[in-house]
Amino acid sequence: MTKLNVLKILRETNDYISGEKISSQLGVSRAAVNTAVKTLRKMGYKIHSVTNKGYLLQETPNNLSSVELSAYLSAERLHKIHCMESIGSTNNHLRELALHQAPNGTAVIANEQTNGHGRKGRNFLSPKDYGIYLSYLFRPKTLPADTTSITAWSAVAVIRAIEKICGICPNIKWVNDLIINQKKVCGILTEMSVEGESGQIQYILIGIGVNVNEENQDFPDSLRNIATSLSMETGKKICRAELAAEIINELDNLTQAWPFSKEEYLNSYRKYDITVGKELLIQQADCTKKGIATEITDTFSLLVQYGDDSLETLSSGEVSILNFYGNPPY
Ligand code: BTN
Repeated sequence: MTKLNVLKILRETNDYISGEKISSQLGVSRAAVNTAVKTLRKMGYKIHSVTNKGYLLQETPNNLSSVELSAYLSAERLHKIHCMESIGSTNNHLRELALHQAPNGTAVIANEQTNGHGRKGRNFLSPKDYGIYLSYLFRPKTLPADTTSITAWSAVAVIRAIEKICGICPNIKWVNDLIINQKKVCGILTEMSVEGESGQIQYILIGIGVNVNEENQDFPDSLRNIATSLSMETGKKICRAELAAEIINELDNLTQAWPFSKEEYLNSYRKYDITVGKELLIQQADCTKKGIATEITDTFSLLVQYGDDSLETLSSGEVSILNFYGNPPY
């Protein structure tokens, strides 16, 4: 605890501050302050010290540790957040926690995933120290039919967080790929468990993978033309802990707003959507079709018109925008 409090004081002080002042502010010994500073340095915090002046925080590590997150989230909120250095998949880990009665709002955040997965069993590349790999547990009292909407609301929540922290606004390719300049910057995978007898949802895992600080050469050849990162699009390095914390805040807002603020999320979704008006390739279990996206319906489904003027409402699945980026999409 002392190290968190020492770090808090160092963050709030723009100039050198003496060990004595820190120890009296916190009511702990000078030795305890020294130990905390040593521990923080080992964790990657650059803390300069000058005799008779004290300590100055010069640089913080760009990681997703609970210590970094504590700059942006309250201690109470952090209780339900599990920060992992490396893990197979945050969704898989959160599923285990959900099965052991973890409460609504529990989240798992990792600095690296070795087995991250996306829709249709695809791999989700999750290299160490670059992205945000985050899963959030939602326990709505809702029937499974409503869950396309939860997926769509999540896309809006993540865009709001990115816009606030990075100053750039991605678009949505239905149903929940976030796109900047025709390239994918974030993928969202929602998985759920339904109780057999009542048909009620037991839990929903909202899994979010954001490309944050990669440069083009950090992507494998197969992704270079279809993936981008927030850093590449803004020209600056992004503080991952700050963005991860804001995504958590927005998901907390989402769970509070569900299901009553549907109009608000639907309006935002339609504003960010870039699918409507485009020619699409629609891959279904038994065939592949081309059509034009004509509307995001009131239930976040996609209305598609085919060449023979017939209409189809897609409530789940995946579409590719033709003349856009890779097919099948990343
Ligand atoms: C997609 O684009 O198909 C969805 C990608 C979702 C990736 C995230 S990363 C965090 C969470 N853990 C996983 O294994 N997958 C999701």
